[in-house]
Amino acid sequence: MHNRLLFCRNRFFAPWKMLCLLGIISTLISCRKENSEKKYRIGVSQCTTGDSWRKDMREGMERELSFYPEMSMTEKDAKGNTQKQIQQIQEFIDEKFDLLIVSPNESKSFTPIIEKAYSSGIPVVLVDRRTTSDKFTAFVGADNYRVGLYAGMYANILLKGKGNILEVGWGINSSPSIGRHTGFLSAIKKHEGLHYMASLWSSVDSVKTYLQTHPSVNLVFAHNDRLAYDVYRICEELGLNQKIKIIGVDGLAGKNEGLDLVRSGKISATILYPTGGEEAILTAAKILKHETFKKENELFTTVIDPQNVSIMFSQLQKVKEQQRDIERQSSKIAELIQTFSSQRNILYFTTVLLTILIISGAFLYYLVQEKQQSNKVLEEQNKAILEQKNEIEKISLLAKQATEEKLRFYSYISHEFRTPLSLILTPTEDLLQRKTNDVKETRNTLHLIFKNANRLLRLVDQLLELRKLDAGKMQLEAKQHDLVSFVKDIVADFNVKAKSQQVDLQFICPFSALPFWFDAEKLDKVLFNIISNAFKYTMQGGAIHVTLLKNVEKIEIMIADNGIGMNEVEKAHAFDLFYRGNQNISLGTGLGLALSMEFVNLHQGKIELDSEKGKGTSFKITLPFIQAENQQLSKPEVVPYKSNILSVEPETSVLQQEESKPRENTIVLIEDNPDLNAFLKQKLEANYHIASVESAEKGWEEILLHIPDLILSDVMLPGMDGFSLTQRIKQDFRTSHIPVILLTAKGQLENQIEGTKVGADAYIPKPFNLEFLEEKIKGLLGNRDRMRRRFSSEVTNPSNIVKGERRFLVEFELLIEKNIKDSSLSVEKLSQELGMSRVQLFRKVSALTNKNVTDYIADFKLLKAKALLKDSEKTIAEIAYETGFNNPSYFTTFFKQKTNQTPTEYRNG
Ligand code: FRU
Repeated sequence: MHNRLLFCRNRFFAPWKMLCLLGIISTLISCRKENSEKKYRIGVSQCTTGDSWRKDMREGMERELSFYPEMSMTEKDAKGNTQKQIQQIQEFIDEKFDLLIVSPNESKSFTPIIEKAYSSGIPVVLVDRRTTSDKFTAFVGADNYRVGLYAGMYANILLKGKGNILEVGWGINSSPSIGRHTGFLSAIKKHEGLHYMASLWSSVDSVKTYLQTHPSVNLVFAHNDRLAYDVYRICEELGLNQKIKIIGVDGLAGKNEGLDLVRSGKISATILYPTGGEEAILTAAKILKHETFKKENELFTTVIDPQNVSIMFSQLQKVKEQQRDIERQSSKIAELIQTFSSQRNILYFTTVLLTILIISGAFLYYLVQEKQQSNKVLEEQNKAILEQKNEIEKISLLAKQATEEKLRFYSYISHEFRTPLSLILTPTEDLLQRKTNDVKETRNTLHLIFKNANRLLRLVDQLLELRKLDAGKMQLEAKQHDLVSFVKDIVADFNVKAKSQQVDLQFICPFSALPFWFDAEKLDKVLFNIISNAFKYTMQGGAIHVTLLKNVEKIEIMIADNGIGMNEVEKAHAFDLFYRGNQNISLGTGLGLALSMEFVNLHQGKIELDSEKGKGTSFKITLPFIQAENQQLSKPEVVPYKSNILSVEPETSVLQQEESKPRENTIVLIEDNPDLNAFLKQKLEANYHIASVESAEKGWEEILLHIPDLILSDVMLPGMDGFSLTQRIKQDFRTSHIPVILLTAKGQLENQIEGTKVGADAYIPKPFNLEFLEEKIKGLLGNRDRMRRRFSSEVTNPSNIVKGERRFLVEFELLIEKNIKDSSLSVEKLSQELGMSRVQLFRKVSALTNKNVTDYIADFKLLKAKALLKDSEKTIAEIAYETGFNNPSYFTTFFKQKTNQTPTEYRNG
């Protein structure tokens, strides 16, 4: 379970882990995208970045680079230091830059490093300056020889073919210096009047010194405009500026740059020398993208003099403006790109997020589905388990019921055995102890014993037959008999019983003979059982009708009575052998009816029962014609009905009463077995008045009528049982004082407990010893007498009286107290208020206190008067009235009679 939970938790956590993972992936993707945009790294190696020309070059590069987002540029400044620049180029090589743009400080000393870069596969674009080798990828720059040539040619124009010329440069080892010098010399050499004085390559100070010492100089060719401006200032300082003309190189726009110097007349001309920044990047881009490019990219050069400087200036201004526009647009584009990039990033992020959400959603959906699926499986499993559980419960309930039913069956069987056994043992004991030799009485007793021994035999037979049926060994031994005479004979056997019970017993059949195949022995038992049963539940004066009818395929035997009938539950279980409901239902019917049904089933017939409580019962036996093939319908064999049981009636009634002894106490006897009832009645009548009945309902009527001194009742009775009756007796204060003896076959401890619970005073199991029963009756009646004597002496303090009776006496005394002032208080009035009859009250009070009601009231009044005399200030007359005496002198007489003292004497005593 724990593992399973962990598993589930991990599974549910997985989407978040996945979310993080996807986030990281998306970030990496976007980073890769950024890097992939800048996939070309260009290393720019500058000899110096300190002057405006170089700055102009870098700006040009950056401008151009803005069109290539995939290219990035890293610039290194050697600050005019050749070794440093070589070192920096090496670094670019080591860092594996994709392309190098180099403007080498010097020519020859850079050749190896440039060749190295070139041969290592890194394209090298030289700008402005060259090495001595042609192992480079491309060159961008103006032709310095042409620059020098134009300068020389323009010098000739300025000097009109005659004059002294000085050349000023910054370093003879750089390729521009070499080119310009060479070009310049070749131009002026063509004119004889032009005199080349010297070339100065060192500091500006040397120029000043030279001019001071050589005042004949007419023109100075400075290799760039910065030098030209320096020369101008020296000339100005030396006062030579009107005399010396100056030509510069570069032609940049800006204050004190070439164009400005020409326009302001500070120098005579400047030779345009473009920086080539844009072109260098353009060429680099072509190389990197493997597009066609030119190795030599010569930049345009021209002479800018006062004549064209304005145009140049304005053009340059325009170019600058355009460049600014371009820059603005570029920055705008950059902004847009930035916006686009961030939007794209947002889009990427949103897409990734959306994808993650969709995947997570799908995953969650899958998990939910899976969970639902597993829930469904679990539910189904639960359902199956529940069903199994219910099934097991049902089976165990059935098993429990079966056990209970078996126990009930044994209990029932033991009851069935105990009653006849009682009627064998008790009369036998009686016979053995009898002193007189009354032949008639002895014969009656022996007859009773014989009859009950037969009954036991029948029960044993029935049990054996049930066993046979259970084991499937019971066979139908059918023969053809005359069914009419068969049934008629069985009915006739009950005539004596019908007569004695005053029951209208009739056999109704529309035909005189009916040949029919059946097992006579079994059908005999069926009919005997059902008719016996009908007698058991049919009252005196009732009717039992047996009808035999037939149609083409079946015969019907109907046994109908108008006896006590059955309720729905009794009906439903009438044929059950192990009925588990009201135990009284199967009494006397269970074994016989269950067996009857089995016998009828063996005939392929059926028994149907119709009954209504209070109206009667009818059993309908339907038997099909089961005629064996080739069996000749011979003259039907008449099977005379012979019951296994001898005549159920004694020759003379045992219900004879002995009137010889005086009988003080009345006993109500309730026993449904007529033999036992008669036997007990006969035995007990010697000492007691006996009111005997067969049912608890009738018993209750008798009890209320007589308020007897003792009740002797069977427990298992048709209708209300002995327990319920005892409960009723003990709960009704008219009868609660009467001792109850329960006499029953149910001898188990739990039944005794139940009997004691409902308030039975004694519980005697069957078979019982008559002497023991008689002693028990005597003992209980004796107790009652002792109690009565005790109560009579403690009339107003009933604390010693048993709980149930105390309540009655308290109520009774409260009633007297309430009515004590009433001089006409009578037994009638009290009994009315208590809901009892006069006799009932009389008997109850007498039974409890051994006093009659009038005496009880008188004693109560006396005690009250005594209390008032001692504890109150009331006058004798007042006390007399308060205790219900109209006349105080009568009160005094009454008091004296009872106490031998007058009220005054008592008060003062
Ligand atoms: C700038 C500069 C320019 C000149 C170029 C030659 O550093 O001196 O003035 O034209 O270099 O390489």
